[in-house]
Parts: sequence; C-alpha cells; structure tokens
Amino acid sequence: SWTTGNVIEEQVESIRAQVGDKRAICGLSGGVDSAVAAALVQKAIGSQLTCVYVDHGLMRKGETEQVEKDFVAATGVQLKVVDAQERFLSALKGVSDPEEKRKIIGREFIRVFEQAQAEIIADEGPAVEFLVQGTLYPDVVESGGGTGTANIKSHHNVGGLPEDLEFKLIEPLRKLFKDEVRMVGQELGLPEEIVQRQPFPGPGLGIRIVGEVTKERLDLLREADAIAREELTAAGLDRDIWQCPVVLLADVRSVGVQGDGRTYGHPIVLRPVSSEDAMTADWSRLPYDVLSRISTRITNEVRDVNRVVLDVTSKPPGTIEWE
Ligand code: XMP
Repeated sequence: SWTTGNVIEEQVESIRAQVGDKRAICGLSGGVDSAVAAALVQKAIGSQLTCVYVDHGLMRKGETEQVEKDFVAATGVQLKVVDAQERFLSALKGVSDPEEKRKIIGREFIRVFEQAQAEIIADEGPAVEFLVQGTLYPDVVESGGGTGTANIKSHHNVGGLPEDLEFKLIEPLRKLFKDEVRMVGQELGLPEEIVQRQPFPGPGLGIRIVGEVTKERLDLLREADAIAREELTAAGLDRDIWQCPVVLLADVRSVGVQGDGRTYGHPIVLRPVSSEDAMTADWSRLPYDVLSRISTRITNEVRDVNRVVLDVTSKPPGTIEWE
C-alpha cells in the first residue's frame, strides 16, 4: 500500500543504484518540487549531490534565506548560492514589456545556472553525470512521457562547459501528485514554509512590477507583499486561497493625502485567487477586516504607496499574474 515511508525507501534505493559513485546536481528554485526532489536525493547519496540556487533578486522577503538557512539546516545538503542580483537588474534595465522581461529573466537564469554547473563540474571529484528534476506526475502526462536525458545547450561561452552537455535525469517525484509531494517533504523533515508553499512564478517579482524593474521598486514591492502574506497567514487563510499575487503599478500615480501633506504615490494591487489547477480561477472573497488591515498597514508602512486596490476579475478573462 502507498505510504510516504515506502515511497522514500524505494526512491532512496533506486537513486543509490542509479548514481553509484558519480555525482549529481540539482537546481533549487525555492519551490516545493525542487526542494523535495533535492531532499530525497540528498538522503540517498549525501555529499555526492550539490544543489545550485540562483539568487536573481526577484524573490520575496525571506525566501532566499529560507533556502540558504532552513533548507540546508533540515537536509544538510551541499549548496552553492550564486548572487546574481546585479546581473539581473542590469539585464532588465529599461525593460517594461512583460514578454521581454520573461525572456531576459529566463535567459539570464540559464546562463548563471550553467556557469555554476561548469564550476562544479570543473572541481575535483567524480564525474557529474546526473541532473535532479522535480518533475511531477501531471508534468509527465502533459508532456507525453519524457525521455530520461536532458540536453543542456550552451548558447554562449561559459568557462569549462562542453558545447552540448548531456545529463541523465533523476526524477524521483515522477509518480507523485502535488499533495503527495508535500507529504513526502514533510516526512523528510522539510520546514513547513517550504512544504506548504503556494505557487510562485519563476520570474518572481519581476513580473509583478508593471513597468521597469528597479532595485527600489523591488524593495518596495517586497515590503508590501510581506505585509499581505503576514496578514493572510495570521487570519488563517493560507489554505483557503490558491495564491495572492501583490502587484506594484509602478507606472501609475495617484493623488493621496497622508498626515498634513498631499502625496503622489503608486497603487498596490491585491490579487487573491481560489483555484484547483491555475487554469481557471476565481477572485477570493476575503473578509473585509483582513483586507482593511492589509490596506492600512501597506499605506502606513510602505513608502510611496498611497492606495491599495483589489482585483475582482476571474480567470478567464484575467490571468492570475498581471504580466
Ligand atoms: P497565469 O498568470 O498564467 O498563471 O494565470 C497561472 C499560474 O502559473 C504561475 N506562473 C508561472 N510559474 N513560471 C512559473 O513557474 C512562470 O513564468 C509563470 N507565470 C505564471 C502563476 O503564479 C499561477 O500560479
């Protein structure tokens, strides 16, 4: 019968057999799937696994620390953190178009990740033959099977990386659904904040700033987002909503009054949604008192924000994210 204990035992055994005395690498995104996959492989092969986390500066408050400290503390995993904040900021400079932002973030991410890979491969030690991926059962079905190898193309010159590198894949979550992955993560002792994490897009806060992405705007949005998350958690609503993007309308200004003075600041949008699979969604009917607390705190605590608005659009026609 299916138990998380059985799944873990089975996977640990087969990963050990598969990897032998070679090494594996795994990219961590901060999300549930890659974290649980990495924790499982770490349990199987220990220091033969190295994880890579690219800090693109587009994460929310506390998320990088969650990976750097809590995840490492819970698993003992070997982690290489690449601070690429400056690189992403300068690549995004002057860019407002959503698709352009996504392309740039995706491209830079691959470059930084491959560079880190190349450094790991170049150090002393057994060959790095395996790449760990947090592929879930629904992903397998959607893509019609899967191949078992990954071709990492390098579109550029990174020191030491072969032109066309082939990894064998380790996908320990291939037979699992999301809720099962969470159970396995819990059994492996991962922190609640990682295991129960709501979906968060790969391009991060970069696609939650309508307008150009700058350090100042990211810091501002991070503060507003942290307040909204804090209040939603305090109200016990985390399990009721699918996710709640917090969006900064950086190119919009409106007049306000704070204290004795007129202000001319930016609006923050709250986009709480309920959903089964993110394909369709409805806006969450959050209690007014919770909305009120979030609004009061954001306008009091976040500089340059003088208005909080609620997105009451379902999907379709609106997507969950604004970009
Ligand atoms: P939309 O905005 O298309 O979002 O309604 C549906 C779900 O997907 C998430 N999302 C992404 N996740 N990379 C990701 O890993 C992305 O580029 C991306 N864009 C959107 C979004 O947060 C929602 O859960």
